Amino acid sequence: MTQPAIQLTDIVRDYQLGKTTVHAARGVSLEFQRGEFTALAGASGSGKTTLLNIIGCIDKPDAGRVRVDGQDVTDTPLHRLAGLRNRYFGFVFQTFNLVAVLDAYENVELPLVLGGVPARQRRERVEALLESVGLANHRHHRPQELSGGQRQRVAIARALVTEPLAVLADEPTANLDSKTGADILELMAALNASRGVTFIFSTHDHHIINRAARVIWLSDGTVREVPPAERAAAPSFRAAGVNS
Ligand SMILES: Nc1ncnc2c1ncn2[C@@H]1O[C@H](COP(=O)(O)OP(=O)(O)OP(=O)(O)O)[C@@H](O)[C@H]1O
Ligand SMILES: [Mg+2]
Repeated sequence: MTQPAIQLTDIVRDYQLGKTTVHAARGVSLEFQRGEFTALAGASGSGKTTLLNIIGCIDKPDAGRVRVDGQDVTDTPLHRLAGLRNRYFGFVFQTFNLVAVLDAYENVELPLVLGGVPARQRRERVEALLESVGLANHRHHRPQELSGGQRQRVAIARALVTEPLAVLADEPTANLDSKTGADILELMAALNASRGVTFIFSTHDHHIINRAARVIWLSDGTVREVPPAERAAAPSFRAAGVNS
């Protein structure tokens, strides 16, 4: 077995809310291999964002170990976490989070500018990615001149431009209508198939859950792998509180 891209071992994360302790992760152990296409599914409050933030070095666990590309990053001091984040991960958010004053091209280019990548290499990578997300003709549009689906395409290109170990997407389709959301998921699946991009994304939507190669069900801070046979029975997701 090759070394996992990401390995979580016995992850615990508690939040203190006044006198109440919220157990957002209760001893979670999971491995993600390179090239996987995984949905983290579960009701609101089940711990999806908590896990994505711990994987993406945005947050640290209270206990347990996090290994990224074979390196134990758990004890990395806070001021060095940003470096790990930029090196290993691309992020896609529900609300797109593009820079309003930059056009599509410049938004995708930004991580490379910040990373000091030379101009010619930047141009090659940005142009190729705009092409592969279907926005070659919209490169000079600013975010407010793009539809929601187009904005999310820009965000996906931006997440891929640094060639990260994995793209982490927290409810990437939640602000899109169902047709546009399905198109975005198809784009992610195509990038996974053609470029081997590793995607880990959270969702409430059972259509999207059923499209994932691997599904991890979160419930009250615990995780369970959902076998494909069980997934076909979408009603069980609805019964468990997942939006249709
Ligand atoms: N900063 C925080 N302070 C206190 N409690 C928090 C904090 N962040 C999350 N929680 C709690 O931890 C639990 C898990 O939250 P998390 O955001 O990971 O869930 P989620 O599955 O992403 O939910 P959603 O689908 O609504 O985004 C919830 O009970 C939530 O209220
Ligand atoms: Mg969330």
